[in-house]
Amino acid sequence: MSKELIVAIDGPAASGKGTLAKELADYFQYIYVDTGSMYRALTYKAVMQQIDVNDEAALMDILATTTIELTADGKTLLDCVDVSNEIRENSVSSQVSYVAVHPKVRERLVELQREIASNGGAILDGRDIGTVVLPNADVKIYLTASVEARGQRRQLDNEERGIASTLEEVCANLALRDEIDSTRAIAPLKQADDAILLDSTNLTIPQTYEAAIQIIEGVRQTKNN
Ligand code: DC
Repeated sequence: MSKELIVAIDGPAASGKGTLAKELADYFQYIYVDTGSMYRALTYKAVMQQIDVNDEAALMDILATTTIELTADGKTLLDCVDVSNEIRENSVSSQVSYVAVHPKVRERLVELQREIASNGGAILDGRDIGTVVLPNADVKIYLTASVEARGQRRQLDNEERGIASTLEEVCANLALRDEIDSTRAIAPLKQADDAILLDSTNLTIPQTYEAAIQIIEGVRQTKNN
């Protein structure tokens, strides 16, 4: 029987990790774990309860009485309620990086992520999957693209979802999040030494997908021989 792999996909905001990871999970019949949605769900609850996102103890209190689940069909459930759309709103996107800096919050969410991936056959996307969450992942891909390319894709995405924004706002928000995510003390956004860099600035979605499939297939064949 073939060994089912653990695949880590890291990269900056709006690099297309989610779209890629979802398609790869479909192709390989693996589970998809969107770790960013866990940080987003917690942020959403904090914003709704008007909790200060800089107050780690208050965030931990929320986590202690909160359930965050990722369903097989890609939905995020917060205390059993589907919040998949709400967690993509600007009110959450603009605050989530502040929530994600807290060590105790990360420790708890990383624990959940490792638990979900423990049986293999999983694709996780985030910022620290290859470096911290699953340093022994079978495949590590670092997916990136220029801020301009990512901004244009995110702006299109927003238009499709009916979220009001301008390209300038979106690019500024991405650049700020890149800065916070990559300079934080704990588990910063960073390419793992053994990750394969995939720069999609000049690639279409199908081209990026093809490149990733080849990377994963290559490792799969090596592992199963
Ligand atoms: O991938 P995303 O944009 O949905 O992630 C939202 C935020 O969560 C991002 O700004 C940083 C944080 N995050 C993180 O710190 N570690 C992860 N593994 C995933 C996301």
